[in-house]
Amino acid sequence: MLSSKFLKKRKSLVSSDDFNVDNLYEILNLASDIYREPKKYSNLCNGYVLASLFFEPSTRTRLSFESAMLRLGGSVVSIPEPNVSSVTKGESLKDTIKTVSQYSDIIVMRHSQEGSAELAAINSDVPFINAGDGGHQHPTQTLTDLLTIKQCLNRLDNLVISVCGDLKFGRTVHSLVKTLSKFPNNKFIFISPEELEIPEYIKNDLIKKNIEFKEVRTIEEVIDKVDILYMTRIQRERFFNEAEYMRLKDSFVLDNKKMSLAKEDMIVLHPLPRVNEIAEEVDDDNRAKYFKQVKYGMIVRMALILKFLEVM
Ligand code: CP
Repeated sequence: MLSSKFLKKRKSLVSSDDFNVDNLYEILNLASDIYREPKKYSNLCNGYVLASLFFEPSTRTRLSFESAMLRLGGSVVSIPEPNVSSVTKGESLKDTIKTVSQYSDIIVMRHSQEGSAELAAINSDVPFINAGDGGHQHPTQTLTDLLTIKQCLNRLDNLVISVCGDLKFGRTVHSLVKTLSKFPNNKFIFISPEELEIPEYIKNDLIKKNIEFKEVRTIEEVIDKVDILYMTRIQRERFFNEAEYMRLKDSFVLDNKKMSLAKEDMIVLHPLPRVNEIAEEVDDDNRAKYFKQVKYGMIVRMALILKFLEVM
């Protein structure tokens, strides 16, 4: 059973703040075991139904949750696309969630509005998981990232983590930095254009915790010092101005030339989808772990479903 009061009482995951370090290790250790011996877990969700509500596009999060539930022996119901649900007739999110709670044992939702996950969690009669709410948070991507780091580097502390790209709108970055800052001796380097810097509230949180960080404008000036280079795409859908997006979209491109400056045991992560920010030639470098990360995403979601349904 997860020990955090929030998780235990409301069985909801809205933000990465809902986890403490003990909860995280509980989920990650279970995920590591599922990765080693998946067959042991293949029937544990027999008879359970996961509702998959994606009001924003997704490939990995949606398919990994659905695949996770199927691999655990459970079933999945979903709305094929938002415009065929009664939301188009004006139904509120509250009523949608109340309704879907009657059909399912656990709900996963992605929505474009910041705060929608909190509203849904409050109104759900079954465990609820945020699969991304606007530019706010994407806590299960953070679990994915943590499992990948743990599997690849065998630790979640004493790391120099560099995050690069759209640090303003990138919800995966916000969740990841807040979570990795809970582990001892981690340091952060933020690489972004001035216009897409990491939000002040995240910097203030690091300052409050006395955690070292710096902000730079190029990959080249720091790549030789980092254990993790976490690349992100410039988020076109969150720009108000297309011209501004066009100006910034190719701010960073990781290629083999830049990789030649990095440590032998550095890893490159990316939540995906990628656009231009990692050249395809980097995929063949054994430090490129972003497709491994995709697989770990499904495994860690299997662990989360088991914990939330109290099967484990
Ligand atoms: N990483 C991630 O959230 O990918 P999708 O948008 O494809 O779900």
